[in-house]
Amino acid sequence: MVKLIINEENKQGKIEPEVYGHFSEHLGRCIYEGIYVGENSEIPNVNGMRTDVVEALKELKVPVLRWPGGCFADEYHWKDGIGPKENRKRMINTHWGGVVEDNSFGTHEYMELCHQLGCKTYINGNLGSGTVQEMSEWVEYMTFNGVSPMADLRKENGREKPWKVDFFGVGNENWGCGGNMTPEFYANEYRRYQTYVRDYDKKKPIKKVCCGANVSDYYWTEGVLETAFDHAEKFHGFMDYLSLHYYVHPEGWKIKGSATDFDEDVWYKTLSKALYMDELIRRHGAIMDRYDPGKKIGMCVDEWGAWYTNEPGTNPGFLYQQNTVRDALIAGITLNIFNKHCDRVKIAALAQMVNVLQAVLLTEGEKMIKTPTYHVMHMYRHHQGAELLESSITGVEKIGTKKWMVPKVTESVSLGEDGIITVTMNNLSADSSEKVEIQLAGAGYQITEARVVTNNDMHAYNTFDAPEEVIEADFTDYTATENGFTVTLPKNSVVALRMKK
Ligand code: AHR
Repeated sequence: MVKLIINEENKQGKIEPEVYGHFSEHLGRCIYEGIYVGENSEIPNVNGMRTDVVEALKELKVPVLRWPGGCFADEYHWKDGIGPKENRKRMINTHWGGVVEDNSFGTHEYMELCHQLGCKTYINGNLGSGTVQEMSEWVEYMTFNGVSPMADLRKENGREKPWKVDFFGVGNENWGCGGNMTPEFYANEYRRYQTYVRDYDKKKPIKKVCCGANVSDYYWTEGVLETAFDHAEKFHGFMDYLSLHYYVHPEGWKIKGSATDFDEDVWYKTLSKALYMDELIRRHGAIMDRYDPGKKIGMCVDEWGAWYTNEPGTNPGFLYQQNTVRDALIAGITLNIFNKHCDRVKIAALAQMVNVLQAVLLTEGEKMIKTPTYHVMHMYRHHQGAELLESSITGVEKIGTKKWMVPKVTESVSLGEDGIITVTMNNLSADSSEKVEIQLAGAGYQITEARVVTNNDMHAYNTFDAPEEVIEADFTDYTATENGFTVTLPKNSVVALRMKK
């Protein structure tokens, strides 16, 4: 039998809430339609933000939201998105779908959205096609509290007080869509651009994110640190995070693969690719450790999730895809991996929040549905800000097909400030349940809440006509033992148990 041994006496570090972050780009129907419908829309909204979407997101306790891209960020000129809406530039979003971008969602609207969500702000600046002056002025516009050209402009546009910018990305994917740079060239540009991301409010310093690698590009991580780390060592606040992007494409980057039509082999192939996140964190982390053994620079996995072939009949540049039980497992597996690496992974952002890639919400006109990924993020929200607890699992069988073998069960365990332990487990098997004996060091624990996301059919997903095919439900398949519980995890399931003495 599988045994999960928890040592609740051994806390292993804080799981930063920002690891449960989100990403929203000017891409397809993520911002426009998905989040922002404008003040005059018939869809209920507050200052243009869809009420249904904001309410659903608030239940996830969204800790941070990255914006405006993605690849869009390195083509975005922030001054196009301020001032009276009727005067804002209309242009084509050449990167994503060739549609009109009317800039009606800009800096003020993003800040309003974060205010409504109660989350931290993460702005991604334009290093690829923007100037140092442009980046510097954006920061001044948002954060300077005094008399200056940009602060005055902000006030003219209706915002007296500065906003708080918590995180600032100095470019995005600069090895690719952000300028096709070499690591050395980017690192030198990073040194220059970040200089002008000034902390106008010394009490609220902006945390800077340096562009990290794509998947297993260890050469990039090494090259960037080789060129820039001397400054990170000398100057506090020079580089707070190094990013990492990793998407799961079942059939590889070119073909990608269907979101809903897959066999058992592809199920295991996909989950095995999700598990690869662990190796990526370890290996990029090992390079970071050589430069930064004290782990002062956090890893920021600010784009992760599944990326399939777009839904038939939709604009391929909109990256709209469905979300099945398989995506619930991808989310559960990945979040467990992040929790276990809480010493290094300090921020992450699921790509993307609404209507794009592995979204938590999908919209169609005035309708909105929650995806299986939403329900997993909701069950896992208790890990935010909690202490990772030592846990180890034994007796786990390797399952799968052909070369795609995966462990049947993955887990992570944390202790919240409320004194409640949260155990999240995934059963990766497409065809059989698994009994897990949970043992704690102490006795007398009681389950306070038990929830599950699953469906007998691994292809199941929610639609606008059937929105509750895969939801978070009460879980009852457990019994108490002397110092723990025996739990039966259904096949293809994500389970969260909360327990307390
Ligand atoms: O999330 C979609 C795209 O994926 C982003 O714009 C880019 O950063 C990445 O390649």
